[in-house]
Amino acid sequence: MEERILSGEQVGDDSSVEYSLRPQRLSQYIGQEKVKRNLEVFIEAAKMREEPLDHVLLYGPPGLGKTTLSAIIATEMEVNLRTTSGPAIERPGDLAAILTALEPGDVLFIDEIHRLPRSVEEVLYPAMEDYCLDIVIGKGETARSVRLDLPPFTLVGATTRAGLLTAPLRDRFGVLSRLEYYQEDELQTILMRTADIFEVEMDEEAAVELARRSRGTPRIANRLLKRVRDFAQVKGDGVISLSLSTQALEMMQVDPLGLDHIDHKLLLAIIEKFRGGPVGVDTIAATIGEESHTIEDVYEPYLMQIGFLQRTPRGRMVTHRVYDHFGLKEPE
Ligand code: ADE
Repeated sequence: MEERILSGEQVGDDSSVEYSLRPQRLSQYIGQEKVKRNLEVFIEAAKMREEPLDHVLLYGPPGLGKTTLSAIIATEMEVNLRTTSGPAIERPGDLAAILTALEPGDVLFIDEIHRLPRSVEEVLYPAMEDYCLDIVIGKGETARSVRLDLPPFTLVGATTRAGLLTAPLRDRFGVLSRLEYYQEDELQTILMRTADIFEVEMDEEAAVELARRSRGTPRIANRLLKRVRDFAQVKGDGVISLSLSTQALEMMQVDPLGLDHIDHKLLLAIIEKFRGGPVGVDTIAATIGEESHTIEDVYEPYLMQIGFLQRTPRGRMVTHRVYDHFGLKEPE
């Protein structure tokens, strides 16, 4: 079992550059305006009542800021953040150990909450609802159930696949927030902020280009910026210009829409091996040597968002836009 515990202060005070890329307060967080506005109200109300915030489910594609938001919630509520993940909690006892160590009001962040084992999920229900744990002591005839009280806490669950959560778990969250892909101007602001933190000069047109190729995702934007910064340092004069950015992006095989070589492999496999589809995701996965769930969680959502891929009952199909993008002729 893996668990990280950060005090409210550590959450806000980590001095490493990597960590400081994450905004620490809601006011520093760029984008996701609806989610932010709601959280602002719910946090303020909970603080006025001196109650813990209701349980929050954050869902949406990877890299949009679910982990960052959970840390912000803890900072804004002035409580500790404890982080773990669904697959790391293997047994009910693991969860019991985490829950009984919480301090009143703490935020427990469970990443990939859709991967919690069912036996653990069942322990979580009364914990979320009534702040108590029902544990069974002993075996067979002498087994008895004991109820343990827990400190009130806030569960922040994150998932890329809200549809995979069981209904009873989903129903126990008071706040359900869906994170959306970012607009290009928001990504541009995030990139400028990151460049500032890195103390590197970046031309505005370079930021525009990087934002355009970041697939609506801050994590990708910051990753591209780091690599372009390397190119600027070694091949240029340290300034991130448009021409240097486009060169670096080409060398990294990131195309003008931000699609990378795996996106290309996926789309071209559907076109070349399955005449554009429909084809099942498992077949695509086997063909290109990726995991089905990686395709479903990481690659497909953006390809669907830009209208390149359609999910049909018979499988995935590419759209005519993909043929245009690759300059290919669509079959009759
Ligand atoms: N860095 C990564 N994501 C961010 C966001 N949403 N706001 C500000 N900085 C970020």
